[in-house]
Amino acid sequence: MSLFSVDQKKCNRDGICVAECPMRIIRMASSEDYPKPTSDADQYCITCGHCVAVCPQGALSLNWLTPDDCPTVRQDMALTAEQVEQFLRSRRSIRTFKDQPVERDKLEKLIEIAGYAPSAKNQQPWHWLIVEDTGEVRRLAGMVIDRLRGVIQKNREFAESAGFIRVVKAWESGEERICRGAPHIIIAHGDENWAFGPEDCALALDYLSLFAPTLGLGTCWGGYFYTSVNQHPPLFEALGLPADHRAYGAIMVGYPKFKYQRLPRRNPPRVVWK
Ligand SMILES: Cc1cc2nc3c(=O)[nH]c(=O)nc-3n(C[C@H](O)[C@H](O)[C@H](O)COP(=O)(O)O)c2cc1C
Repeated sequence: MSLFSVDQKKCNRDGICVAECPMRIIRMASSEDYPKPTSDADQYCITCGHCVAVCPQGALSLNWLTPDDCPTVRQDMALTAEQVEQFLRSRRSIRTFKDQPVERDKLEKLIEIAGYAPSAKNQQPWHWLIVEDTGEVRRLAGMVIDRLRGVIQKNREFAESAGFIRVVKAWESGEERICRGAPHIIIAHGDENWAFGPEDCALALDYLSLFAPTLGLGTCWGGYFYTSVNQHPPLFEALGLPADHRAYGAIMVGYPKFKYQRLPRRNPPRVVWK
């Protein structure tokens, strides 16, 4: 079966699908012709679905995606610039969580939304490990502390500059700064050889963390956590990640204990115009 088909009763030959296809695998021999796949289309299609999503007539169907599979973009739901600015500026890293687990359906929704992030070649390379058991989050945080202690012993100067000594001291006095007492941690991992793994997974985690407040949830990147997964084999094994994967990011999730009241300032941008 051909990669896509065009309903000639609907197609007005406007060439939008040809112009928008990222891989340039849709062609029209002339403005009188209907769009057709190039001979190498199956090989190069990145399954982004843009051709189906962009056609104003709903004339083009991929062999795995029809216009009916794709909800219409609701123009009446478009946000104002002011709304989006407040939304983006009010997302905060949360470090004090309620002692309350997050419902499974909310965690599933976060992962679903993360999957709409951009990724190089639309590879969507992320795999997700959700540590749902709060006791296990604490145990894993303890393993991160083991790693930090090892680094402190080997290279105290680096450990000091990386903040490890303060974090370990806090742990010893009963304060958990690795996962900040969050009930859950979500780890994005993927093939260690995928060149865009760090960017793709960071973007997916960002989608997740931007969406989380709409479900009443707070998040915080777990920098100590995910770097330790890659540096400390016992932790990697405890998570059960595939041997040829690496952790590309981790994020704590839970219900925030406090509500932020103001939008803090950020540095002025460093920009060069040429
Ligand atoms: C890659 C990365 C790693 C981070 N690691 C940690 C961490 O281990 N612990 C923590 O409390 N915050 C961590 N953060 C959160 C940053 O400290 C936070 O984003 C920054 O202070 C700005 O605050 P905001 O997110 O509320 O705007 C991390 C953020 C990023 C992007």
